[in-house]
Amino acid sequence: MTNKKTELIEQACLAQKNAYSPYSKFSVGAALLTKESKIFTGCNVENVSYGLSMCAERAALFKAVSEGYKEFIAIAISTSSKKPTFPCGACRQVLSEFGNLEIYLEYDEKNYTISDLLPFSFSKDQM
Ligand code: THU
Repeated sequence: MTNKKTELIEQACLAQKNAYSPYSKFSVGAALLTKESKIFTGCNVENVSYGLSMCAERAALFKAVSEGYKEFIAIAISTSSKKPTFPCGACRQVLSEFGNLEIYLEYDEKNYTISDLLPFSFSKDQM
């Protein structure tokens, strides 16, 4: 049986194939594991009005939340780079809304959590 990280990375790689990235030519796939063991995937979707592009991680998260899932264990990220690629700052902030999930990067043995990548984040307890 494959482990959680391997399975999520595989799903992120598959999702990466759906990336719509004609402008950057950089494809990204993400696979998000819910507490209920469901996996939601996402890819980056670019737009000719560049700033309207959406990252893979947020695409996966928004799919999950819009289907009623709000508790997450981990997210895996695969990109067209042959090196590990960290999620952007906007995705870190948006993911942090839903707890301190684990982050798995393709080509990286190490695992991270959101709080490793975004310490001192803006959170609801500051409001
Ligand atoms: N991108 C993601 O999908 N996730 C990230 O965390 C970083 C960047 C996408 C956005 C854009 O389509 C392309 O990668 C280049 O920035």
